[in-house]
Amino acid sequence: MRRPLVAGNWKMNLDRAGAVALARAIAERAGSLPDVDLLVCPPHVYLDAVGQALAGSRVALGAQNMYHEASGAFTGETSAAMLLDLGCRYVILGHSERRHILGETDQMVEVKVVAALAAGLTPIVCVGELLSERQAGQTANVIRRQIEGSLAGLTAADVERIVLAYEPVWAIGTGQVATPQQAEQVHLDLRTILAQRYNAQAAGRVRIQYGGSVKPANAGELLAQPDIDGALVGGASLKAEDFLGIAAAAEAVR
Ligand code: 13P
Repeated sequence: MRRPLVAGNWKMNLDRAGAVALARAIAERAGSLPDVDLLVCPPHVYLDAVGQALAGSRVALGAQNMYHEASGAFTGETSAAMLLDLGCRYVILGHSERRHILGETDQMVEVKVVAALAAGLTPIVCVGELLSERQAGQTANVIRRQIEGSLAGLTAADVERIVLAYEPVWAIGTGQVATPQQAEQVHLDLRTILAQRYNAQAAGRVRIQYGGSVKPANAGELLAQPDIDGALVGGASLKAEDFLGIAAAAEAVR
């Protein structure tokens, strides 16, 4: 049985006081959601403060990105060890905003995934198609290419230790959520690709989150799908009430 993981990707939002207040509000009520793993991913500069606000709670801390090298002359970058030092357990890698705005390639994502695993962080590896790719009937091909590239160096045992996030680019920040059927189909496709490349056990064990305009009102029917194991939440994760409402929906459908 895969435990749902509901994660907030705060992106480049909030200030220090707002980040700490949001973390506290989520941590206070996390105890009432024992069957869902909860995670927040603040901006790097607030990781330390948010980590302190979460101390003693069951809400995990994650980062939104990292660099693959261990240390050295890489101005502006952050290593896996630094994230671990601040208490991070997860790191989002290959988010569509990094792929499409900052030019990250599958190859760049892949070296980060390998480095995160080697350091003991759980990578949340994001994949997803553009609207034009969906309209051209290319969704399955795009997902396959991203998986093959982003996970190129991984073994089946490695794959069991990652989390995948399916985030259709056209659904991110647009209010245009994928239907439960659209999302479930891609999650099934992802498991099929993993079963072919690795084995059935790895494909069955890996948690696959859905992301893209998830709100409390639509979370229930998405999370009720058999292959959707949680949500990666952007906008709605900035309000404790909404984020906890999504987590409650994950708990309710178990
Ligand atoms: P929204 O929930 O704002 O659509 O963002 C989704 C996302 O990109 C999470 O990583």
